[in-house]
Amino acid sequence: MKKTWGGRFQKSTHPQVEAFTESISFDRRLGPFDIEGSLAHVQTLVKAGLLTAAEGHKLIAGLQQIKKLLAAGKLPLDTGMEDIHTAVERALVRLVGPLGGKLHTGRSRNDQVATDFRLYLRHAVGEAVRAGSRLVATLARLALREKSTLMPGYTHLQRAMPVTLGHHLAAYAFMLTRDLDRFLTAWDRANALPLGSGALAGTNHPFDRLFTAKKLGLKSVFQNSLDAVSDRDAYVDFLSAAAVTQMHLSRLSEDLVLWASHEFGFLEMDDAFATGSSLMPQKKNPDVAELVRGKAGRVFANLMGLLTVLKGLPLAYNRDLQEDKEFVFDSADTVTASLKTMEGFLATLRFNRERMERAADRDLTLLATDLADVLVQQGMPFRKAHEVVGRVVRYCLEREKRLQDLTDAELDRFCRFFPKGTARRLSVFRSVHQKKAVGGTSPKNVAQQAVFLKKELAKIQKRFLKL
Ligand code: ARG
Repeated sequence: MKKTWGGRFQKSTHPQVEAFTESISFDRRLGPFDIEGSLAHVQTLVKAGLLTAAEGHKLIAGLQQIKKLLAAGKLPLDTGMEDIHTAVERALVRLVGPLGGKLHTGRSRNDQVATDFRLYLRHAVGEAVRAGSRLVATLARLALREKSTLMPGYTHLQRAMPVTLGHHLAAYAFMLTRDLDRFLTAWDRANALPLGSGALAGTNHPFDRLFTAKKLGLKSVFQNSLDAVSDRDAYVDFLSAAAVTQMHLSRLSEDLVLWASHEFGFLEMDDAFATGSSLMPQKKNPDVAELVRGKAGRVFANLMGLLTVLKGLPLAYNRDLQEDKEFVFDSADTVTASLKTMEGFLATLRFNRERMERAADRDLTLLATDLADVLVQQGMPFRKAHEVVGRVVRYCLEREKRLQDLTDAELDRFCRFFPKGTARRLSVFRSVHQKKAVGGTSPKNVAQQAVFLKKELAKIQKRFLKL
């Protein structure tokens, strides 16, 4: 197929080179954004006096037509066309004749692709933020519902202190809320127009670039054309936000995988969100959570991949930059699908409250710190109290007796400062209710966290609408 740059060449491109250099097989996803950019560019050309109003109308009508063809899957997109930008221009020339050749006035594919991809990025941020917000909302709702459900809290994956399930769930909601902020910040920082920078040096034509930016809903214009065509920071920011999000999701997944195991037995997955084994008839597996966890691999790799493409690239545009897209598409698809699927997984599973509470209540020594705090309240230095209770703990473990089942006489043998009835007053319920200082696991705090999260979500929503 004839190239847009064919004039200088005497031979046609080797088929191997054509196949190697094409990007249309993946940048076709930029189609709607390419057309959006071109629609704005036509108006800029009219404003600059490079197109008459009538010519402008014709081109706009043609581009609208192409938009429909593209949406209907009727736009020819074969690899000989190199990339989506060429495909759209070709289609335009077919529709409106040689006038279509005026579209590329003062524009290069370098500033064009940088613009298209930013418009796509805004869309991708929108998808991720929408899916993430729903997940945070679900986590906050579950946190509120489970604000009084008792369970063992863990450090080093060893039982540590009682917490509420709501507190545990809300922790993930907070992480993901920060991720939403990261996505929006990535977009905020990317909210500038490259178009009008030409191939690298700017344009000879009197383009009103702020006008173009406004048409595309972008906040500012790149102040340096070399920067405009070679900058890919916005995608690095996006990929980094995606990587942190997927990391958080993988941690949540790990907890859920553990809890779904027979050993924990803290939850029962919904049949619709679990999978089976082709060999073992009894199996019900948490593949959803495992895949969300596993997909962190590709999402991290995408960030590293783009950084590696960018490292050491001289200014300005280099074809290496064509390699930016698949990383971003893949991370955007993966993180949004993970957020959505995780939301469904969580919304449908059933927590086994009795198992959780029993695990906390039957534990022999989960209340050891609470017992030490009783001595602290009597004025004993915490270090000393820690030592005393350490010995009590050993005693309980040897006798398989719970701290809360010790008699006054038994406690007295370790330290005479334990008030009467100390052991009887120890309970998992009381332990969590005592964690009243801001951030603690008490049901009242967890309810407040749910309110806080809702407010944060509303703020995110407001920022998102202004994108
Ligand atoms: N497909 C190319 C890319 O994604 C478009 C820009 C091509 N520019 C060029 N000078 N060959 O980067």
